[in-house]
Amino acid sequence: MATRRELSLALLCVCLAACALAPGPADASKMVGVYELRKGDFSVRLTNWGARVMSVVLPDRKGNLADVVLGRDTVAEYVNDTSYFGPITGRIAQRVARGRFVLDGKVYHMHRNDGRNTIHGGDRGFSRSIWTVKEYVAGGESPHMTFYYRSFDGEQGLPGNVDAYVTYRVSGAYTLGVHMNATALDRATPVGLLLHVYWNLGGEGSGDVLGHTLRIRASRHAVLDDELLPSSGRVEPVAGTPLDFRAPAAIGSRIRRVVVMGGRAVGYDTNYVVDGEGMRPVAQARDPASGRALELWANQPTLQLYTGNSLNRTAGKGGRVYDRYAGFCLETMGYVDAVNHPEFPSLTLRPGQVYRHDMLYKFSF
Ligand SMILES: *[C@@H]1O[C@H](CO)[C@@H](O)[C@H](O)[C@H]1NC(C)=O
Ligand SMILES: *[C@@H]1O[C@H](CO)[C@@H](O)[C@H](O)[C@H]1NC(C)=O
Ligand SMILES: *[C@@H]1O[C@H](CO)[C@@H](O)[C@H](O)[C@H]1NC(C)=O
Repeated sequence: MATRRELSLALLCVCLAACALAPGPADASKMVGVYELRKGDFSVRLTNWGARVMSVVLPDRKGNLADVVLGRDTVAEYVNDTSYFGPITGRIAQRVARGRFVLDGKVYHMHRNDGRNTIHGGDRGFSRSIWTVKEYVAGGESPHMTFYYRSFDGEQGLPGNVDAYVTYRVSGAYTLGVHMNATALDRATPVGLLLHVYWNLGGEGSGDVLGHTLRIRASRHAVLDDELLPSSGRVEPVAGTPLDFRAPAAIGSRIRRVVVMGGRAVGYDTNYVVDGEGMRPVAQARDPASGRALELWANQPTLQLYTGNSLNRTAGKGGRVYDRYAGFCLETMGYVDAVNHPEFPSLTLRPGQVYRHDMLYKFSF
């Protein structure tokens, strides 16, 4: 017998087959489509399947355009994506130990999709949902697009209805803002979202990112165990470890020493506690070969750096494949597994309370 998930995926496939090529006018707001924001030679392609970034195209120092985002060519191909190429993840992004937590004395069990734990909201989290297109302005001074999703009471085991919005906005030249908000409508619930884009400033599919230089404004990290959970609750200095990117360093300069998942992977999957608070610079990355660089600002307490350690002949765009270190993710967020750690800032929203997550990418070349 087909499970609910198989049925919903089958229905989605029918919808994707029917709608993926549809353009994005207002009457198609509930269908799956592809949308472009364009300002000069800077362009961003989005889809409402997971409120996802499909591509970001910008020039290098010689004027050559490249798409710097890993992913697939068509929305339909993202249905089988298990690498989280480009989506907003939630309702609780990142890992929840044993898919279980207690809120107001009641135990909640989420769908477990990462061994015995839950990752990115379960098997049908925000990244695998169809969002509604609320607003779409393709060009002009400030091209932007807003997606809306009503997460329902009981979804993936989580309490209460939640209204979530994500707006992508091209503001200045080569600048992309991402604004997320979410409101608990009727019950207390944890909410924490993140944007899971893999970047390769040399162009997606151009090889690994080990030569990119990276700077991260964090002097501490939340120690993660072999299941990438902060089980000890310890927050330790990065000084003197290969995790220290306070001064710019090549991603590959010390990566061999970063053994994670009990030896099952090598590379960064690190939760940095970003210095300062409020909207502030978080990280900078630069590809010396092309000259392309990005600077990320955000208002979130932590940054998960992931260097695509598990990519392995993974299908990408244009028939290309992505191997280990083909891209890196800069995931601004709350603390990992905060629902099980009272010592970390809470993710709980009471009815009427609003979660806000702002990011700003400034690209240059
Ligand atoms: C997704 O995976 C299923 C099962 O392996 C396969 O039948 C289907 O063709 C795949 N869809 C796409 C778009 O690759
Ligand atoms: C959330 O964002 C949307 C889109 O920008 C906006 O219309 C809405 O008012 C925001 N909600 C809150 C509670 O700020
Ligand atoms: C990549 O996948 C192949 C085939 O499944 C496997 O043999 C190999 O060990 C994998 N490589 C890594 C680094 O995981």
